[in-house]
Amino acid sequence: MTNLENLAAPEPDGSVSGVWPTTVKRVDGELHIGGVGVTSLVSEFGSPVFVIDEQDMRDRARAWKNAMEEAFEDLGGAEVFYAGKAFLSVAVARWMAEEGLAIDTCSEGELRTALVAGVSGEKLGLHGNNKSRREIELALDSNVAHLVVDSLAELAFVEAIAAERNATAKIVLRVTTGVHAGGHEYISTAHEDQKFGLSIAAGSAIRAIEETLAATHLELVGLHSHIGSQILSLEAFAAAAEAILALRARAATAFGVTIPEIDFGGGYAVRYTVLDDVPPAPIDFAKALAGAVTEHVIATGMPAPSVSIEPGRSIAAPSAVTLYSVGTIKTVQLDEGSRRYVSIDGGMSDNIRPALYEADYTAALANREPSEENVRSRVVGKHCESGDIVIKNVALSANLGPGDVLAVPATGAYGRSMASNYNMLTKPGVLAVRDGKARWIIRPETVEDLLALDADA
Ligand code: LLP
Repeated sequence: MTNLENLAAPEPDGSVSGVWPTTVKRVDGELHIGGVGVTSLVSEFGSPVFVIDEQDMRDRARAWKNAMEEAFEDLGGAEVFYAGKAFLSVAVARWMAEEGLAIDTCSEGELRTALVAGVSGEKLGLHGNNKSRREIELALDSNVAHLVVDSLAELAFVEAIAAERNATAKIVLRVTTGVHAGGHEYISTAHEDQKFGLSIAAGSAIRAIEETLAATHLELVGLHSHIGSQILSLEAFAAAAEAILALRARAATAFGVTIPEIDFGGGYAVRYTVLDDVPPAPIDFAKALAGAVTEHVIATGMPAPSVSIEPGRSIAAPSAVTLYSVGTIKTVQLDEGSRRYVSIDGGMSDNIRPALYEADYTAALANREPSEENVRSRVVGKHCESGDIVIKNVALSANLGPGDVLAVPATGAYGRSMASNYNMLTKPGVLAVRDGKARWIIRPETVEDLLALDADA
């Protein structure tokens, strides 16, 4: 990347941050993404708008696939399931399939989106702690690679539905390893006091293994662990891997079964701002997991399991930016100096993460060259809430003014997918840019769309 000094401070080693998609650069002061200038994007397509750098997203998907293949080449092989919850559309499902990834879904909507994209059942998984009958039926009818079962109650539910259809459900049991890792408490998932999974410590995991083996319409294909999200620590992944592999060994001793698959879930961190630590690369995570599998194989003499993982954020987040138009600007005087409030035409309805997890983002003036001087700023949305903050504290170009385009990077995961219609704002569309061309992959909502749902309009 070149000429991005005003976007992202250079690293101590001189390299540039990695917070922005790889094709982002400035041309005559204007930010370009995927070869398209932001001014033409906003004038043609409007704002706010999510812009995905298609090549960047494909490259990240491929990097995971290659890393896992390399690390598990001499073990039992590996599959990468892209976690569709980060962001899914028909185009994204196709890109992932074309790059050789499978897709992890967790609702009828995600499952049907992947099916509409033409992804075949054996390249799909279904998650969820409270799956509906309809979701389970659709998964069985689509012959998904596995259903990840979250509780003993659900195990019985799936068995009953599979029996009605005289089908066999391929079951992966989601277990909690007790490894507590990740960013905010709300995105940490493997400790005891939360809703997910079958506890290894409390014995429900081993019981679920026994019940699955005894059931007539269930096939135990694997064990699953997801310890949380935005995790930087290789040790946390290795510790969770050891715990779940120990359960595999225990099941072998107790029931004489060799559980074929282990899914280590998602949660691999990305960089939202230059102040964030640089996360390990896919190959580092893959090797940490492979190390645990190698030890397990040596210690138990069991055949290596086939391994899968479910990265979402680390594929989707860094490949997109949100473009906003700047509106009202206001400076407030504080004891410790002043703060400039920059209002943009979206907000917590297109990015809930700062309000929900105190997530940090950065931004840059995008349609023209930023000035040398920066001003302490807060980027706020247009919602009727003081907590409607997109970026709490950011140094932004002093010459920023109404009508300018502001770009916020790393919004590709859990932005559009967690968007709401709060204050009856319409959800922004999603553009894919590549080789100088832009196209909608999800068109923006209109107020007509909202009114169409209103029975009395
Ligand atoms: N697998 C399972 C079972 C999951 O629950 C999740 C995320 C993933 C994979 C993908 O995790 P990733 O690689 O994207 O971190 N909405 C939040 C995070 C909660 C994600 C929930 N599950 C956020 O905006 O940070």
